[in-house]
Amino acid sequence: MTADVVIRPYEDADERGWLECRVLAFLDTAYFDAVEREKEHYERPSIELVADLKGKIVGLIDVELEEEPATVCEDRPGLGGMIWHVAVLRDFRRQGIASRLLAAAEDAARTRGIERFEAWTRDDPWVQRWYEAHGFEQIRSYLHVYVEGRSETEGMISSELPELKPVKVFAHYTGDRRDEVRRRFDRVHDCVCYERRFPV
Ligand SMILES: CC(C)(COP(=O)(O)OP(=O)(O)OC[C@H]1O[C@@H](n2cnc3c(N)ncnc32)[C@H](O)[C@@H]1OP(=O)(O)O)[C@@H](O)C(=O)NCCC(=O)NCCS
Repeated sequence: MTADVVIRPYEDADERGWLECRVLAFLDTAYFDAVEREKEHYERPSIELVADLKGKIVGLIDVELEEEPATVCEDRPGLGGMIWHVAVLRDFRRQGIASRLLAAAEDAARTRGIERFEAWTRDDPWVQRWYEAHGFEQIRSYLHVYVEGRSETEGMISSELPELKPVKVFAHYTGDRRDEVRRRFDRVHDCVCYERRFPV
């Protein structure tokens, strides 16, 4: 069946299928509630590919490409490409589709002088295993913190308007007291930056 899957550039007519593929693929990950209703477009050049099985989008990858160092990716040697989205529908996983998307994106990126890819992901061990199986290494991390309900917001989050009460806040924690933050809030994710330097 995967022999029928064609890797090709994204087209405007794919938007609905792209959104459905992305939202469904992320349902069983730590990004389950990151829902978008319009496909993202990029300021800089990008590589946007889909895995098409007889008209159905079963996988996707979006990479934004740097033209100047450190404009999209971390300040590290070599122009980078940021993988903003990579996803494959659950029924089509472990068949090499994401590997094909990544390889095609890398081939296209190399022709534009890109030397490495970066990707941010949360703490799903199986997703991290996919990155690591493809030569990505962790380079940095911080925490994504969801501060929800009165017990978590009170004394922690306030507003300048007394009548405006925060009930749910999404925050980045970049300090050294990670264990304390994990103990204090129910929903805390590691957000990890991976890098893959292209073999020469
Ligand atoms: C991560 C994801 C894109 C991988 O797609 P995929 O098409 O299944 O990946 P591939 O078939 O190319 O995977 C090949 C290899 O990656 C690793 N891998 C993939 N899924 C894995 C899992 N669940 N557990 C362990 N290793 C895994 C294995 O090494 C696998 O090789 P193997 O099947 O021979 O053991 C897919 O699981 C997905 O859509 N996840 C949800 C969305 C997501 O989290 N995206 C990235 C977040 S930023």
